[in-house]
This record gives sequence, C-alpha cells and structure tokens, in this order.
Amino acid sequence: MQKKYVAFFDSGIGGLNLLAAFRQKYPDIPCLYYGDNAHAPYGNKSREEITELAFAAFRKIATRPVAAAAIACNTVTACCAEQLRASFSFPVAGMEPAVRPAAKTGGNVLVLATRATMQSERMQDLLRRYSSEARFTLFCPQDLAGEIERAAPDFSRVDLSFLPQGKYSAAVLGCTHYVFLKDRIAERLGCPVFDGILGTADHLYKIANVCSKNPQKQGKSALIFLGNAKKHNKKLYLSLF
Ligand code: DGL
Repeated sequence: MQKKYVAFFDSGIGGLNLLAAFRQKYPDIPCLYYGDNAHAPYGNKSREEITELAFAAFRKIATRPVAAAAIACNTVTACCAEQLRASFSFPVAGMEPAVRPAAKTGGNVLVLATRATMQSERMQDLLRRYSSEARFTLFCPQDLAGEIERAAPDFSRVDLSFLPQGKYSAAVLGCTHYVFLKDRIAERLGCPVFDGILGTADHLYKIANVCSKNPQKQGKSALIFLGNAKKHNKKLYLSLF
C-alpha cells in the first residue's frame, strides 16, 4: 500500500509545535511539513492575500499522497478553512483558539491572536458562544509572529513587555507561533495558558483514518519538509524537539 502522509501547513515555524505534539503521540505515522516562511507573518495581511497563499501551499501539498492535512495556523483557519476543505479531496483539520477551556476559569480571559484571526467572523462567533462564562480581553500583538520567526531558535530574545497589564484567570494563545513562548507568558501573567495544540493533534489523527500501531516499538517514521524554508524548518524542528 502507498505511504500516505499527514500534512501540516503554517505560514512559517508556528506549526512545528503541532507537528511535534502529533509525532510525540503518533511517531509511526509519516508526516510532511510545509512552511511558507518567505511570506510570514500572515497575520497583518488581507483575507484575500492569506487565502491565496494558503491555496498555493495546499496545491503543492496535494501533489503528495496525503491522508489528512492540518492547517497548523489559526490565521489561515480563521480566513479560509471552509474554502480549503471544499477544494481538496483529503480531510482538513483547522486550529481553534482554546477559548472553551479558558472560559471555564470564569474570570477575565486574555485572548492573544493575530489581527486577521481576531477580526474574523469565526473568532467573533467563538467568543460570543462563551461570553456568558467569562469576560474576554482581546489583544493583537503587533508583529509578534514575525519577531518569533526572526528570533528562532533563541525565543528568549523575544521581549514580552507588550503583554497587557492586568489580572487574568487564563490566557489563550490564538496563534501557533506564540506557543514557543507559552511557559514565559504563563510565568509573566501568573495564570494558566491554553492553546489548541493537543486537541487538534488528536482530531487530526482521527480524521486521517490511519493507524498508529504500538508506536514505542516501531520508532519514528518518515518526516519530510517542503516549502521555501524546508532546510531551515527541518533544522529548527530537529534542534527543538
Ligand atoms: N502561526 C500562525 C497562527 O497560528 C500565523 C501567524 C502569522 O503568520 O502571522 O496564526
């Protein structure tokens, strides 16, 4: 039987966090990572531009045998997940900001996301759904995803003084790039920090309809990198995870 890949797509390096979580749980499933680092960050671009870039990447991904693909990017999910799902024959999982678990803390929840994500109908709907459970403070850090791209692999160089002052019951990282700063953000804010990484990894495994058999015994399976920064992303992935 032909080997099929579970594919991951992000504007750059942010999706490596999802890839790492997926491979930690399902190491015997072949994976493919496509980063569009040359055009990152996407978050301040228009919806049309983001959609065009995402489609260009997905068309390249679709030239490989794909079991399922993850939009490992909240910004792309917010802008065009439905269009991508309707256009490709393999199942597509998106990222959803972890508003639901954060809202359970019942207080003031800080939500961090890119401008494109925050302005999307998808995000506004999500926030409305949980508005009776928590109060949301919304914040779009100007160029944080770009700074993270440039700082890699030394994320300690990213200055966190931009974080809004306040007392929060939880924070939501609505961008996969921000996950590289999760521990530092949690320490600085002094509250639990949620991302959608593990939930998406499990959902992706389900929709891919592949079978992870006794992963401990099988060891790690194929992992290929595509896109305009494939060597960079591979090196970063191998050095971090
Ligand atoms: N990793 C992205 C996200 O989850 C992209 C951020 C960006 O390119 O601005 O939103």
